[in-house]
Amino acid sequence: MIVVGSSNMDIVLRVARAPDVGETVLGTDYVMYPGGKGANQAVAAQRSGASVCFVACLGCDAYGEFLHDNLVQENLELTALVRSDTPTGLAFILLEESGQNRITIISGANAALTPEQVLPAIQQRDILLMQLEVPLEVVKASAQQMHKMGGLVILNASPVQQKMEEILSLADILLVNELEAMQLLALSEPVNAQNAIAMVEKLASGRQSAVITLGKAGAAWAIRQGKSGLVPGFSVDVVDTTGCGDAFAGAFSAAIASDHSMESAVIFANAAGALAATREGAQASLPLRATIESFIAQNISTNSN
Ligand code: RIB
Ligand code: NA
Repeated sequence: MIVVGSSNMDIVLRVARAPDVGETVLGTDYVMYPGGKGANQAVAAQRSGASVCFVACLGCDAYGEFLHDNLVQENLELTALVRSDTPTGLAFILLEESGQNRITIISGANAALTPEQVLPAIQQRDILLMQLEVPLEVVKASAQQMHKMGGLVILNASPVQQKMEEILSLADILLVNELEAMQLLALSEPVNAQNAIAMVEKLASGRQSAVITLGKAGAAWAIRQGKSGLVPGFSVDVVDTTGCGDAFAGAFSAAIASDHSMESAVIFANAAGALAATREGAQASLPLRATIESFIAQNISTNSN
């Protein structure tokens, strides 16, 4: 499988609570982690057992070197990784004691990725996973190329942007969280466990399938043929939710790549997302397949006791 997306240096500022407008707060400390939705999802899929080629654009700076070394350590195929003179992408993450976060991204080199750099790498792959932290023209051209090859396009439509109709129409499987689903469906409140099945059925219409993740309430899924369901969340002690959505998307795609059913892929991904919440950092918190499987086995036996 191939992942086309962003790679960011995440600078995590730990604070008791985020400041209000005009307010200054004293933070505790800061720490830097490899991040970016593309890289996180590529690493999540690889740790979940898939063989992943990752395409991204890094800067020629120290952060770019650091991120590159980290991707090499994850055993990703990096033959199509490119470099730009633009600084490496950055994410400033305010992490509250509660585990909630607020993220600002400076795209930097991620915005310099071009369709010409990406398209050759898409030959001979069966599954393409993308997010929306690289130029939309790259996402569009990559999806079209994948369809030409007869492959499957999984899109995590995050972060949601303006004028997304065409991009969305290219997603065979659409993955969003409760806030993104609200934005795409023009709702006035985030999707919740009560309306999730109805909403995910809407998102699945006209495509193969869709998933809405609901944080600790689990995830709802629907396939075009009319089957749908809600997988309950696992209860864990939350340390940092950064990267949970990426853990979900990567693990889900790896499960689909190894022919899991939709429901079983959602359960596997849901467990990966829950485990990622128990550790700090985005990539640093992504679980291995064996850990995900034993977590599921343990929780299913606990539930039936
Ligand atoms: O989804 C989490 C990621 O979003 C972080 O790693 C940060 O880099 C931003 O891209
Ligand atoms: Na985390």
